[in-house]
Amino acid sequence: METFEVQLASEPDGSVEARNFKIESVGVPELGPGEVLVRLRRLGLNAGLANRIGGPDTDYGPGIHPGDVPASDGVVEVLQSRTDAFKEGELAVRKSPWRGVDVAAADKLRRISPEESDIPMEARLTVLGHVGFTAYTGMVHIGGVRAEDTVYVSGAAGGVGSCAVQFAKAVGASVVGSAGTAEKVRLLTEELGADAAFNHRDGPAAELLRSAAPDGIDLFYDNVGGDQLEAALEVLRFRGRAVICGAASQYGKGNDRRGPANYTNAIYQELTLRGFTVTAHEDLRAGFEARVAQWMNEGKVHSVHTVVEGFNHIPDAFASLLSGGNTGRMVVDCDS
Ligand SMILES: NC(=O)c1ccc[n+]([C@@H]2O[C@H](COP(=O)([O-])OP(=O)(O)OC[C@H]3O[C@@H](n4cnc5c(N)ncnc54)[C@H](OP(=O)(O)O)[C@@H]3O)[C@@H](O)[C@H]2O)c1
Repeated sequence: METFEVQLASEPDGSVEARNFKIESVGVPELGPGEVLVRLRRLGLNAGLANRIGGPDTDYGPGIHPGDVPASDGVVEVLQSRTDAFKEGELAVRKSPWRGVDVAAADKLRRISPEESDIPMEARLTVLGHVGFTAYTGMVHIGGVRAEDTVYVSGAAGGVGSCAVQFAKAVGASVVGSAGTAEKVRLLTEELGADAAFNHRDGPAAELLRSAAPDGIDLFYDNVGGDQLEAALEVLRFRGRAVICGAASQYGKGNDRRGPANYTNAIYQELTLRGFTVTAHEDLRAGFEARVAQWMNEGKVHSVHTVVEGFNHIPDAFASLLSGGNTGRMVVDCDS
């Protein structure tokens, strides 16, 4: 059997572009015991992968070099099974190489219960996927969000941020979000339910945050770091909490990375800054899935994603993601 895969064709010269990839026809290996043959149906893309393309190995995976096939999370359908764990036709989530049909070890797949087939596949890559699990772990477990909190989310229109905003709203908190375009700011207030939002490019972050949250904030969910972390440390109330999820503004800066100059506010304001790594919290997954599915049924939470049609458009979709052409998660529909 033959299938297609997306390989890195050349090292990027500057930012990663679609022409750095090529689509190749390859053979599919024989299915062994404990394995399943799967077809890729939806592929979720994340910008962080760009750090590894033509780059060194990182904590998130090895460097990707010409001839390598990148992988990101995807929804797959089982075509054939040599394990009791899966039946033909069942859906699962896996870290999927960018390959149309593939052989996978069954124990590396997370099965989607057939009773939950009414939940759209895209949601498995957003609110119920890795970004949703990250936002839930950080907002609910680490941040301990409460209905009486005023919460600020940086990078709020991104994959994790758009989930973090919705989860905080679902528990009844007031939410302020920041994003980098007017369109994303509109999404935050009109579609995700944020009470206020601002474009972080419109001026000094601390001023923008103060006017969006004049009475201060109780909880900061940070995806970005840099100026926005500094702004939050100015505006957090006494005994406020900051959840350090990511630092997108500092990635790729090497030794030029900078921390907040005003970190001493943590002393006077008795602030708590707490980082986390989602992979250390797998024990929360069952509770996360049940709670978010319930919020979806109640209409409090929905999947925010941009769909690009067709497996052959994975390179274009990835390049578009890097230039901000997405709202929420970038998802490729590989059925069409
Ligand atoms: N702790 C964990 O276990 C864990 C797990 C997964 C992800 N993460 C981290 O969580 C963060 C969000 O991930 P994601 O998948 O949601 O990524 P994403 O969709 O790319 O969102 C990140 C957002 O950061 C903003 N941003 C990027 N560069 C920036 C800059 N220089 N200045 C200001 N804002 C900037 C962008 O928003 P605008 O374009 O709107 O400015 C972007 O939408 C990342 O930092 C990621 O590394 C952490």
